[in-house]
Amino acid sequence: MTAVNARSVGGPTADGSNAPLVTLENVRWHVPTPRGLVKAVDGVSFSARDGEIVCLVGESGCGKTTTGKIAAGLLTPTSGRVLYEGRDISSLRGDDFNRFRRGVQLVHQDPYASINPMHTVGATLSAPLRRHGFASSSSAARKRAAELLDLVDLTPSSDFLDKYPHQLSGGQRQRVAIARALTVEPRFIVADEPVSMVDVSIRISLLNTMLRLQKELGTGFLFITHDLALARYFAWGGRIGVMYVGRMVELGLASDLVANPQHPYTRALLSAIPEADPELTRTKTRVELRSLEVPSLLKLPTGCTFHPRCPQFETGICEVSVPQLLAPGSKVAELDSSNVHAVACHVVARG
Ligand SMILES: Nc1ncnc2c1ncn2[C@@H]1O[C@H](COP(=O)(O)OP(=O)(O)OP(=O)(O)O)[C@@H](O)[C@H]1O
Ligand code: SF4
Ligand SMILES: [Mg+2]
Repeated sequence: MTAVNARSVGGPTADGSNAPLVTLENVRWHVPTPRGLVKAVDGVSFSARDGEIVCLVGESGCGKTTTGKIAAGLLTPTSGRVLYEGRDISSLRGDDFNRFRRGVQLVHQDPYASINPMHTVGATLSAPLRRHGFASSSSAARKRAAELLDLVDLTPSSDFLDKYPHQLSGGQRQRVAIARALTVEPRFIVADEPVSMVDVSIRISLLNTMLRLQKELGTGFLFITHDLALARYFAWGGRIGVMYVGRMVELGLASDLVANPQHPYTRALLSAIPEADPELTRTKTRVELRSLEVPSLLKLPTGCTFHPRCPQFETGICEVSVPQLLAPGSKVAELDSSNVHAVACHVVARG
């Protein structure tokens, strides 16, 4: 077994370099609180190539949002690095930094909070278009705003340009938030639970819009969700990373990870997903955990932090040392490592 090198995960970028577009290298975000040190993110590494979908999935509080903010440069990791096109973002200045700022955009979970209620949709989209030089006049900005509304399936755009956020549904507001992210022509969008606050009936159509954007514009996504069924749908052509209390425990191609989950936590999550066929759901074998209690970040279990819940727990190993995210075999460097299926588990590593 060889530890996964985040820098090796990913192929050539659009600019011809071999660097992945966005890389997180062993990032930690430890925050001191009156009750002790909270290890919200504890050594997460992965990268995304141009146009790639990477999905982060895990229970509430496992560090997904914090990881997403770090990837978007909105939070500085307490240790580790974020690279954009192979360059440490903390060293970027001037135009280089602005290129990164525009290149990676964040779409928040809550479309109600992320859009100014006092501005029309047209004004919301025109402001960044003018500010970042994507439109040279207000009429050009309005024309581009209309095109962006078409892109996110708010049609006819003339029905939406002069509306205020309170005149829109939650799903329409989230489409406006996506259109706003697109104003600066990003190469990568961090979408943090983008459909969790919209009506269940329109979730799939919103996901389909984003998938179309990925295909048509080549925009990559870091898609964050607590729902493995949604991750499976959105990331089917990409990769899924499963997080557990601040760490990545499994990372692989979505199709591989779903068909052949390795980590006991991933297996448990997958076994709990209801299937479209009720008979299949009824007959599915559910992985039973030893405990349902999620550990406190202030008092994490020793060794593998999943050990108090893990059905495959082995005394003398699991509670003793922290398993690293490993790729099988020793040929990682020779592989297109975007295909690597990596797992952080002593028992899986032993084979
Ligand atoms: N500023 C902070 N101070 C203290 N703890 C924090 C702070 N920010 C985040 N945390 C804690 O870090 C952990 C990870 O938070 P984060 O929001 O990244 O989780 P998440 O996986 O996105 O959760 P959810 O699914 O609920 O959105 C949580 O336990 C949270 O309470
Ligand atoms: S290292 Fe041990 S406790 Fe952790 S997931 Fe693997 S088997 Fe379970
Ligand atoms: Mg979150």
